Amino acid sequence: MKKIGIIGKGFVGSAVEFGFSAQTGCDAELRVYDKDKSKSTHTLKETVNKSDVIFVSVPTPSNTDGSMNLDIVEQALQDISDVNTVSDNVVLLRSTVTPGTTRKLQEKYPNLRIVFNPEFLTERNAKYDFINQARIIIGGGDTILQKHYVEKVGDLYRSRFGESQPVIETNWETAELIKYMSNCFFTTKISFLNEMHQIAEKCGVDWTIALDGFFRDGRVGHSHMNVPGPDGKFGFGGSCFPKDIMALSKIGKEVGYNLNILEAVMRVNEYQKSIITAKIKVYFNNKIDGLVFGVWGLSFKPNTDDIREAPSISIIDDLLNHGASIQAFDPAAIDKARQLFGNKITYSNNLYEAAEGVDALIINTEWSVFRTPDFSKLKGLMKNKVIFDGRNLYDLNQIKDLGFYYNSIGRETITEK
Ligand SMILES: NC(=O)c1ccc[n+]([C@@H]2O[C@H](COP(=O)([O-])OP(=O)(O)OC[C@H]3O[C@@H](n4cnc5c(N)ncnc54)[C@H](O)[C@@H]3O)[C@@H](O)[C@H]2O)c1
Repeated sequence: MKKIGIIGKGFVGSAVEFGFSAQTGCDAELRVYDKDKSKSTHTLKETVNKSDVIFVSVPTPSNTDGSMNLDIVEQALQDISDVNTVSDNVVLLRSTVTPGTTRKLQEKYPNLRIVFNPEFLTERNAKYDFINQARIIIGGGDTILQKHYVEKVGDLYRSRFGESQPVIETNWETAELIKYMSNCFFTTKISFLNEMHQIAEKCGVDWTIALDGFFRDGRVGHSHMNVPGPDGKFGFGGSCFPKDIMALSKIGKEVGYNLNILEAVMRVNEYQKSIITAKIKVYFNNKIDGLVFGVWGLSFKPNTDDIREAPSISIIDDLLNHGASIQAFDPAAIDKARQLFGNKITYSNNLYEAAEGVDALIINTEWSVFRTPDFSKLKGLMKNKVIFDGRNLYDLNQIKDLGFYYNSIGRETITEK
């Protein structure tokens, strides 16, 4: 029976747990340790010493200069190293780290056997993505023994998923870069499309048809095309894309190569985020002080409580700085927002409470609950019937007859009747 340990049970750790659980027909012995006790099934010592492969999936956030912060990974490896008494267990690093990092970590923790295995899942479908990976990339060191550990991890995956998921075995640096190539390519695609969309808006282009005509060329690929849409209306956010492209950009500088495309990708993204606030300021003639804004949606996309790099954060910050008050509702992210904003904003219990007495309502996330509100109830609650929709949730023909001022992205503005 496979003995699997998981250290760090967030999005990635939970998906690994699911993928090796009885629920998915796997008979692995699973042990989970997280610094948050409520997520742990075992102690660190048990997880490390009773597992053949220990998946380490702890965060790798950004430093203030955009470079990757390795403190949490190092702490986790130090903790493992301190309790480890076994000589052939493999530490499988799943946290995203820049090329060259795992080699340095292996030198720092010689009593561990570290293999790098990037994760490509999306937060929206984390568990499903783990059991349906397009490929499994496993990177290791150059010695025969280190290659043997790579093979050991490959065997674990092969026995779990069979031929359906091809396993690519390589060295640490290659595996590390593949992960960044993926995320950097997707962000480039998003920023490219956002730029095309800016041109489309200014030249009378029908964006829906333009997109349709574009992606039908199979070479383009279907993903990350929803611009403006879930990934791109304000640009991209979330816990991975921004930090990963910033980290690779930093590495580029360190090794003497300026990643010009990625820098442009980030500039376009910053511009995208400011579009809604710019529209709000124009509507209110820059007189934001004292106004009340209802905010629907705080997370960077639906079905997650993740607000890291979410557009809602910069919009709220900007409006607060201009003297506005905010009353916000999100189906999942209120606790996370409370940690960030404290009592600087008001937290509402439902979408209607957030709309009560507001000068304008701002929609940031396409949660399904926001798609079909009771518009007549909403009209009765709002002081001004003004909606800025960053997610293009409503059909323009439908909203035309409802008596709102409705400003969405890249579409005709509907004025109040
Ligand atoms: N979220 C994604 O979609 C995604 C996709 C691919 C790769 N990644 C990468 O995977 C890594 C983890 O991401 P995530 O989204 O799962 O993070 P997360 O923030 O959702 O979860 C991390 C977990 O690690 C725990 N933790 C922190 N320090 C610990 C320690 N010293 N010991 C034990 N547990 C500890 C936290 O309590 C938390 O439960 C990051 O490097 C990220 O870049 C994330």
